[in-house]
Formats: sequence, structure tokens, C-alpha cells
Amino acid sequence: MPVTLDKREGVALLTLDNPPVNALGAQVKSALGSRLEAALADASVTAIVILGAGRHFSAGADIREFDAGTNTPSLPDLTGRIEKAGKPVIAALHGTVAGGALELALACHGRVAEEGAQLSLPEVTLGILPGAGGTVRLPRLVGVEAALDLILNGRKVAADEAAALRLVDEVVPRGTLLARAMNLAERAARKGVRRTRDLTVAAPPPDLFARIEADLRKTARGRKAPQAALECVRRALALPFDEALLAERDAFLTLVGGEESRALRHVFFAEREAQKFGELTKGTTVRAIRRVGVVGFGTMGAGIAMAFANAGLPVVVTDATQEGVDGGLAKVRASYEESRAKGRITGAECAERIALVRGASDYSALSESDLVIEAVFEEMDIKRQVFRRLDEVCHDRAILATNTSSLDVDRIAEETKDPSRVLGLHFFSPANIMKLVEVVRPATVSASVLSSCLDVVKRMGKTGVIVGVCDGFVGNRMLYAYRRQADFLLEEGALPAQIDRAIREFGMAMGPFQVSDVAGLDISWRIRKRQAATRPKDQRYSPIADRLCEIGRFGQKTGAGWYRYEKGSRAPIADPEVEALVKAVSAELGFTRREITDDEIVGRCFGAMVNEGALILEESVAARSGDIDVIWVHGYGFPRHRGGPMHWAEGFGLARIAAVVDRMHAEQGSLVRPSVLLQQLARDGKGFGEGLSPQPC
Ligand code: 3HC
Repeated sequence: MPVTLDKREGVALLTLDNPPVNALGAQVKSALGSRLEAALADASVTAIVILGAGRHFSAGADIREFDAGTNTPSLPDLTGRIEKAGKPVIAALHGTVAGGALELALACHGRVAEEGAQLSLPEVTLGILPGAGGTVRLPRLVGVEAALDLILNGRKVAADEAAALRLVDEVVPRGTLLARAMNLAERAARKGVRRTRDLTVAAPPPDLFARIEADLRKTARGRKAPQAALECVRRALALPFDEALLAERDAFLTLVGGEESRALRHVFFAEREAQKFGELTKGTTVRAIRRVGVVGFGTMGAGIAMAFANAGLPVVVTDATQEGVDGGLAKVRASYEESRAKGRITGAECAERIALVRGASDYSALSESDLVIEAVFEEMDIKRQVFRRLDEVCHDRAILATNTSSLDVDRIAEETKDPSRVLGLHFFSPANIMKLVEVVRPATVSASVLSSCLDVVKRMGKTGVIVGVCDGFVGNRMLYAYRRQADFLLEEGALPAQIDRAIREFGMAMGPFQVSDVAGLDISWRIRKRQAATRPKDQRYSPIADRLCEIGRFGQKTGAGWYRYEKGSRAPIADPEVEALVKAVSAELGFTRREITDDEIVGRCFGAMVNEGALILEESVAARSGDIDVIWVHGYGFPRHRGGPMHWAEGFGLARIAAVVDRMHAEQGSLVRPSVLLQQLARDGKGFGEGLSPQPC
């Protein structure tokens, strides 16, 4: 039974028992409703306590049921019934108390939280708003300003802070929750119930709503849910309680059927699916990773080291020279000191993390590491050499990983005696901040090594996605396709600022040319020069980036790239010199420049990206389209509220994408190879999830 009813000393205990997270699905709500009625009808019961079995009180409404439409009783019905009950109902909270579960607690007549409980209303992160009275009851309990902070940011509040906000009545030590909740229930039974609906809301500061609206224009660009939630709170102040509840419900139902919520729910589940690899990793032993080694103390190596230190793991980083080691350690120290100065970490955390990172100029320092990540120069011969050395110095069970962003991991693994322990761990820069890690799976790697790496990545608070070996893996391979269209559009009539603006308006954090200027143009220039000898002569190639590099424009670091920059500023300024260069190249190549619309920019850039994603699925380099979406949301600034490129494409229309791809193929030949999968799905009117069964990549 998803809700059990026990009686103890005249108090009815209603326990939510719906593993793994006590989501409030239809059966739970129905059982809770009938158990509640039974307890209210039982004359021997004087008060009721609602609690959760397992690790969490409850993760709120069952998100999987949102597509099924409304079911009865609805959460608002249930919360209304609880609030109006003639006997006191107390919520005993522990672990996660999220969304509808917190709303349930708000409707109770008292709340006790165990130490370690985390309370939140994360609905806006799912493209909805609290739909069971949260926007109406929370301001009555904690005030308008604090309520808006929780509702608009989806922020988790620990038990102590919840008590300070008066969101809960008591915080109690672990192991005492039930006794203390029963105690509160008995006291409430003597004193009578206090209903949240009867509390009055203190008037907020007069400029509060205007201030928040201005903030949302910047932080919630293109989003609907935060603005709608703000409106609900505004109405909660203006309307009678029951009318405000109805208005909230209407707003919730509108959002739940909208594209934003569909996209955000898709990402929520895709993130969790990405951790599963079916038969491949099922039942495998996860190796203990207690000590980590990193080879190369450049920016990437330092970032990776900090990512592990942030998770409490000791790291030793080697570099070829003592100078390199000292420089790397200085970078780590400076970065942590800066975080401390900005209040992101405490002084003690700062010292602890700095102490976890050690430097060495000799490979022998890696002999005890359980996982070693190579982060040296992106050159196959150098990497192979590093792996030969690692094979000599590391212990037999050590996992050896390369942080290459594009090179053939199978060839790197060949350098070792036991390639089953070699794989790629592709971190994204800055590695201590970026959430994504592509876990690259060469043919020879063992399942237990893959599981162990997924596990350690999770311990670091990052999202690991398993991908197969190919040039650029998933993320960069799609990036090349997208980026190439941006370059071609320049030749045909667009300018960098126009393309960047269109892409930003689509929702990407930055346009492709801004990204280039931040990353630096010189590294990809070096790679292109290396590839020049093997590039087919009849293949279209845009020389504009090369020309910029030839005149020393390497991006922000040289004060000029696709844009120019004032000294000390990172604000891009459109540069007539670049415009002249772009136009000169168009003329040289024989293009008659034409007007390019924003729709064409979006269609071509993202069309090429999605087509490449479909090729990646065809080739089983990624197992699921959701994995690709997770990679783009976490690694490349793809707007989460659009669900990732593959999800977005399904809403945009795969037939429309296929038509754009066909046109690009007709004009650009093999540079845009239409995906058979994409064409097939477009013809059949299906989505990516329906076209193929997940394949281990
Ligand atoms: N509904 C349905 N399934 C849920 C769920 C929910 N609210 N929350 C978690 N799950 C599922 C996950 O999909 C996963 O399923 P799987 O095993 O099949 O992959 C399983 O529960 C375990 O979840 P996690 O892997 O995330 O487990 P963790 O222990 O890492 O985290 C958690 C647990 C902190 C509860 C995390 O799952 C979480 O944050 N859940 C979402 C909470 C949330 O957003 N709640 C708001 C719901 S909307 C709402 O309440 C609307 C209301 O206002 C009307």
C-alpha cells in the first residue's frame, strides 16, 4: 500500500511509502485521501502525522504523470482537505521535501523537520509553478520576499534556514522525528489547529515586484514559468485565498501543457537515463577510486584537479618541469582564494581543497593513484608517449584516462599492456565549473572501468554521458557541423554580430563567434593547418578565420578576434576591419552577398547540428537522443528550456530540418551528409525516441 495508517497513543500516522522517492502519484494521492478520511472519522484519533518512509519525505508530484492529464484527487484537493481538517495534521519532514510535498506540508497545521532535511519548490526548473497552493500559502508563512526567492530560484533550504524563515516550527535531531512530530500533534490537539490560509501577508517592499521583473528580464530570457509564478504571488496578495488558489491552478495547467515544461521534463529524465547503461554496466563492480592523478598542469589539468579536490579526493598533478608544477599550484591557489573572497567557499574549505592538490615533476608520484587523467597537449604522439609511461608507473588496477577532445582513444589504449582499463574522460573547460564529462568508450574498455568512472563523475557532482569513439565524439562533432554553417553564412552575406545575435535570441548563452573569441582562435587554426594537406581540394572551405589569425587576431586574449575589445573589457564590439575582411573573402570566392534572415541562420546552424546528431545515433556513437541533449545542455550552453538540440528539433519538425539538410547537401556536397535516420523519421512523422532502440555506443 503506498500509504499506511497506524495508530499510536491516539495519533494516526500516515506514512507515504512509494519508493524510490515517495512521488505523489495518483495511487498515493488516492490512498492518502482515503487514509486521511479514515483517520478523521475515527473518534479515537485526536491528531494526525504525515511522514515518509525511506530516504525522503517526498519528491513531490509524480512528474511522469504530467502528460496523463489531471487525476483525482488532485493535489490541490488533497491540500485543501488537509487544511480544513478538524483535527490537527502535522508534517514530519526528512530528506528531500520538494514541490507538491512541501505544498502538502504548507497545508498542514504544523511542520517538524529533521536535521539534514532539504525543502524546496523546484517547479520553475521544470517549466511549471507550484500548483498545489505553494504560491498562495508560502507568502503567508514566510513573507513575500522570501517566498519569491524560493519559488523563482527553486532553491533548496536546509532545515535550520527553514526554521529561521518560519517555514517549519521545529528542527529536531536525527532519530527523534516521529516522537517530536507526535508531541507537536498532541499539543496542537489541545490548543486547536492553526491554518496557513488564515494568516495575513505582510506588505512587501514597494519596489519588490518591479525589481524582480527587471531581474527576470535578464535571467529568465525566453522563459514563461518564472514570470507566471511571479504573477501568482502577486495575485495571492490581491485576491481572496480561494480565488488565488484557482488562479494558481489555471496558470499551472497552462504551463504543464506547454513546450517549456515538456523540454525541461525531458532534460530531467534524460539526465537520469544517461546514468543507465542497461546490460553494459549492470551488475559490474565499481572500483574504489580514492586517489587521483593528473598529467599536465596547464589550465585543463588544474581545472580537473580542482574538480576532484572539490569532491574531497586527493589529487597529484605532474608536469614536465618544476616551473610548470609551481605555476599550476599557483593557479589552483589563486582560483580557490578568489572563490573564498567571493564568499562561495569558507576559509576552512579553501584551505582544505588547496591541501588536497599536490604537484610533482616525476611520474613516480602517480604510482598510488587509482585513476590517472592525462591532460597534455592535443597531439597523438605525445599522448601515446604519456600512456606508455603511465603503463610503467601506475599500479595494475589503475584506470588510465585521456582528456582528449577529439583524438582516437582506441589508438591511445593500444599503448598499454591492458587496454581494458583505458578510456576517455573528456572534461569541458573550466573543468572545475562545467558539469559535463563525456565518458569515451574505446572498444577494449571493461564494463567495470566504465561504471567506476560514471560513479566517480557523479561523486564530483557532474553529469557523465557515455559516448563512442569518433572525431570530436558527440559534442565537438556536432559543434563542427554547426560552426561550419556559421562560417558559410558569413561568406554568403551575414556578419558575425548578426549571427551571434540570432543564436543568442534562440537562447544559446553565446553566439559562435563570441565563443571563438573567448576560447581563442589560435588552437583551431593550428589544427586546420595540420589538416590542410588531407583536405579534399574540391571541398568548400571558409578561410575567414585563418585570415584573422594571420593578422594576429586570436580573440579576447589579443584584444581582437571576430570582434574588437577595449582594454580591460570583455564586451565585444563589431569591428569594421572584420566586416571589410568578410566582404573581401565573399568577393574573392565569387559570392554575391545577399540578405540572410535570422530564420535561415537558426535553421542552417541547428539543422546541421541535429543532422550530425542523427548520424551519431545511426552510428551508435551515442545510445539515445536524450544523451545528446544532456551533452549540449551541460557542455555547450544549449538552453535547457528548449530541451537540447534533438528534443528541440522534434518540436521544430524533423521534416523541416530534413528539408534544410537536403538543401545544404545540394549546395555543399559531402560536408553535409544527410542522415538516413533523420530522413526516415521525418517521412514517418516519428521522433528520435521512436526510430531506434537504444544501442550501447
Ligand atoms: N516524479 C517522478 N519520478 C521522480 C521524481 C518525481 N517528482 N523525482 C525523482 N523521480 C525518479 C527519478 O526519475 C529516478 O527514477 P529512475 O530510477 O527510474 O531513473 C528516481 O526517482 C530516483 O531519482 P534520482 O536518480 O534523481 O535520485 P537521487 O537520490 O539522486 O535524487 C531527488 C532524489 C533529490 C528527490 C531528485 O530525484 C529530485 O530532485 N527529484 C525532483 C524533485 C522535483 O522537482 N519535485 C517537484 C515535482 S513537480 C510538483 O511537485 C508539482 C506540484 O507543484 C503540483
